[in-house]
Amino acid sequence: MENISLRKATIKDKALVVDFDYSLDKVEHIELKREEKITKAILDKECFIILVNNRAVGFVIFDYRFFDQGWIELIIIEEKYRGKGIGGQAFDLICKQCKTNKVFTSTNSSNIQMQKALSKAGFSFAGKINGLDDGDPELFYYKKIKSKKAKN
Ligand SMILES: CC(C)(COP(=O)(O)OP(=O)(O)OC[C@H]1O[C@@H](n2cnc3c(N)ncnc32)[C@H](O)[C@@H]1OP(=O)(O)O)[C@@H](O)C(=O)NCCC(=O)NCCS
Repeated sequence: MENISLRKATIKDKALVVDFDYSLDKVEHIELKREEKITKAILDKECFIILVNNRAVGFVIFDYRFFDQGWIELIIIEEKYRGKGIGGQAFDLICKQCKTNKVFTSTNSSNIQMQKALSKAGFSFAGKINGLDDGDPELFYYKKIKSKKAKN
């Protein structure tokens, strides 16, 4: 049985995280200055390494910037580990550590893999925003988390 866990990234993980992001989309990585964003997320303690049996297979950036709700900013899993349920379990772990009653995230309508992973992990469709990426609307999802003390 595979053991999936999250651990907070430290600055020592920066090269690893940058590499995951660079491998996904080199052009976006450079144009959107993702290295800077990743460094900031690590320093702000908002970046988590996804581990399978203690091996780093990806990362997730999670914060509370979306209307003060839990917000999954970015998740990337190394290609050979995708489609095995690791993303779904990473979402569950994020929901467990979330301090609010709901976790939100978004993805492009072209990203079927992310939409499937979110549905499988119990996320519901929240709405669509046009105009961010031309011809590829942004789809928002959320999940209600039970037994949180704070009401949101
Ligand atoms: C999106 C992502 C985080 C999901 O994690 P994952 O571990 O692959 O997801 P899971 O295995 O939990 O979930 C998966 C569903 O996606 C399906 N899936 C996996 N790979 C797929 C593919 N290449 N095409 C279509 N569906 C795929 C699985 O079969 C499963 O669906 P099922 O319920 O029908 O079995 C991961 O695929 C990834 O890192 N993708 C590239 C980066 C990315 O797009 N990040 C999101 C940015 S918004």
